[in-house]
Amino acid sequence: MLFVWDEKYRTGIDEIDRDHKGLVNLINDLYEAMQDGSGGALLLPIFSALKRYTEDHFCKEERYMIECEAPDQSKHFQEHKRMAETLADLESRHRHGEAAISLQTLTFLRDWLKNHICVVDQAMANKIKKQTEREGT
Ligand SMILES: [Fe+2]
Ligand SMILES: [Fe+2]
Repeated sequence: MLFVWDEKYRTGIDEIDRDHKGLVNLINDLYEAMQDGSGGALLLPIFSALKRYTEDHFCKEERYMIECEAPDQSKHFQEHKRMAETLADLESRHRHGEAAISLQTLTFLRDWLKNHICVVDQAMANKIKKQTEREGT
């Protein structure tokens, strides 16, 4: 397993945590597909699924942030945009045989996700939770 889920990644917003766990599972699936000796035939479909799932997740988070007027939106959106572009580029290069999806790629994605969840997503979640508590009282 390349990415072991830890409670420190939990934001407390169920929908977001479900998405993050889904992303972690897809990264682990890619890692397994890389190891299973089948020549990586499954890599591209799993990578494409990861790309789509990530795009959907980013859209969902951005909608949340706009709704609750979370701080630092543009910085957060920019991080999403850069990662979405990176995934699109990696997919296209792999598809055209220009570069393989390597272990280095996977560790880069894993580390990016760990850092993104722990820093910007947690800050966003705290703001959303405060907002919800205020509305609830
Ligand atoms: Fe996220
Ligand atoms: Fe995010």
